[in-house]
Amino acid sequence: MAKKIILSGNRPTGRLHWGNYTGALENWIRLQDEYDCYFMVADWHVLTTALDKAPEIRRNSREMILDWLGAGLDPERSVLFIQSEIKEHAELFLILSMMISMGRLERNPTFKEQIRDLNLGNEISFGHLGYPVLQAADILAYRAHAVPVGEDQLPHLELTREIARRFTHHFGELFPEPEGLVTKFGRFPGTDGNRMSKSLGNTIEIAAGPEEIAQKLKTAFTDPNRLRRTDPGDPEVCAVYTYYQKFLPEEAATCAEECRTAARGCVDCKKRLTEGVVEYFAPLRERRQHFVDRPEMVAEIVAEGCRRARAAAVETMALTRAAMGIG
Ligand code: TRP
Ligand code: SF4
Repeated sequence: MAKKIILSGNRPTGRLHWGNYTGALENWIRLQDEYDCYFMVADWHVLTTALDKAPEIRRNSREMILDWLGAGLDPERSVLFIQSEIKEHAELFLILSMMISMGRLERNPTFKEQIRDLNLGNEISFGHLGYPVLQAADILAYRAHAVPVGEDQLPHLELTREIARRFTHHFGELFPEPEGLVTKFGRFPGTDGNRMSKSLGNTIEIAAGPEEIAQKLKTAFTDPNRLRRTDPGDPEVCAVYTYYQKFLPEEAATCAEECRTAARGCVDCKKRLTEGVVEYFAPLRERRQHFVDRPEMVAEIVAEGCRRARAAAVETMALTRAAMGIG
């Protein structure tokens, strides 16, 4: 029986961090066993909110692909490709844009939040409003059955489902209504205790080396009420403890116990974590370096991914035009 199809994507904003890894990448790697997977560098999507970032997109895409390969996305099994290389997304975007109202797009909560957070006021582009329609085109171009996403993306996916239903209503069955596979990961803290996010400058990259990890952990947020070495601590409020739970789970209970009884100090606690995390990411860093040293191989992986993606999207477009009686 044919495997179900998955599509997911990331905007290329640079190297991936521990939050991206725990929130998405790790899950994608597991899904490769069960599904036919398409993983997309969503470079066009960057333009919707950050036109000034255009000159950095190529380099950022490359860094992200290296992180993907290092972490274990497997180009033998999965299709790794770049959105802007597949022009069919643009054609499908145009067609799908007729199947959703302006009002519906304006009510999208993610959109409202972005306008507020980025202080956009009236400077909202037509393309930005259409962000979820482009995302729908990304997904429907591969007639994906499921989309692994973080919770924040569910409103976008709901729009994709509505658009798919609308198409079916007018032109018949072609697009499955894709299901969201939400990654269960809670909130992953950055080194300052807030949510790990590039814009907050509190990230640690998955490709970071031992010195960088040690340095960032040294100043990482711990229990703020633990002022002296002899004070008992509360691991539940400490980012370092979350990192233990994630990366050194077999030591997490001891860490919590010794923190609560003041049997360990934060300096030692962080030293041990640093060693553990360096070890945890060593295979990833090694694999990543393997690809860094072989740029022609990476270029070929991406070219092959784009070829496979294009073949699938071209077929979808032929069926779409036929269903609509155009083109
Ligand atoms: N909007 C997603 C994000 O910001 C990126 C994305 C673009 C995407 N197209 C997609 C995710 C299609 C899943 C499916 O992270
Ligand atoms: Fe956090 Fe460890 Fe310090 Fe406890 S001992 S507050 S878990 S760094």
